Amino acid sequence: MNAIFRKIVVIAFLFIFVPLFASTLWGFPPAAKPRISVLATGGTIAGAAPVATQTIGYQAAVLPVGEVLASVPDLGRIADIHGEQVVQIASENMNPDIWMRIARRCEDLLSRDNADGIVITQGTDTLEETAYFLNLTLKSRKPVVLVGAMRPATALSADGSLNLYNAVATAASPLTRGQGVLVVMNDTVNAAREVTKTSTFSVETFRSPDLGALGYIKSGRVHLYRGPSRRHTTDTPFYLKNIEKLPKIEILYGYAGSGTAAVEAAVKAGVAGIVYAATGNGSLPEAAKAALAAASKKGVFVVRSSRTGSGMVARNGEVNDDALGFIAADNLNPQKARILLMLALTATQDAKVIQQYFDTY
Ligand code: DGL
Repeated sequence: MNAIFRKIVVIAFLFIFVPLFASTLWGFPPAAKPRISVLATGGTIAGAAPVATQTIGYQAAVLPVGEVLASVPDLGRIADIHGEQVVQIASENMNPDIWMRIARRCEDLLSRDNADGIVITQGTDTLEETAYFLNLTLKSRKPVVLVGAMRPATALSADGSLNLYNAVATAASPLTRGQGVLVVMNDTVNAAREVTKTSTFSVETFRSPDLGALGYIKSGRVHLYRGPSRRHTTDTPFYLKNIEKLPKIEILYGYAGSGTAAVEAAVKAGVAGIVYAATGNGSLPEAAKAALAAASKKGVFVVRSSRTGSGMVARNGEVNDDALGFIAADNLNPQKARILLMLALTATQDAKVIQQYFDTY
């Protein structure tokens, strides 16, 4: 009996305690790394110039995804990376059709068990728009992070490599699950809804006016201090499967003396909606207000945003939105308001419901 008991103890020790001890003490076997898909679309992060000191006038969108990934060898230490080239464009050429392609690819990858998160590399000019579109349409709580660069990959102190490393670290972090789509640039994590490009050249160009960043990344470690309060991703009524074609929405700019010409031209062009980047708190000059009211009567949806870059446009504040059938954009800037209106019109034609969307997402 003793001999059998001793054998059982030895077997238990070798096959239960030793592996447990090794895994707790030495992390053996090594924990599986998160599987991160990197979808490349071009931009400055894939840009190149003939000399290292050239940071303008370079060629954006030239390096393929394999070369962009190869420039950050440390990525393999923090995640299992799978790279894809979706498009190769400077992001001033981004458009709603490409958004749909990116979103559908994300949905496909996120629905699989072998993808834990996604990083999308893009030009910075329209990066905030792609981020917000995905924030409103993706139906997953897995992290999706957009990243770019302000200096081409060939530049002295190019920012793309560390931005990409930080973006993968953010997508690989358990902290970012369920936080909506994020933008990582310059060691900082911002929410898709609030972030905007604020400088034509600075590496710290991406900021969230009034509301601030969600957190930082230092030495590959993510530090979050708050989360998005507006609903996103799985909590929105906008589904890719219900979207054939996104409606045409134009953004018009208000200024001293702005009149009716741009409004009338947009209506004539057959837009479904107009976002007016008005002065101040969404104030409209009489002529433009009359033209927008006429457009609204013809069934064109009108959203009052502001050209100020921060603050909110309150409903019935400077303009009687109830009487004119207009929608107030809350604190969405014009380019974000356009995206929400675009998606809202795939779900409803009721201006009251659309106003609820602007108060919710
Ligand atoms: N052409 C601009 C773009 O692709 C360059 C800016 C950038 O990528 O940072 O958005």
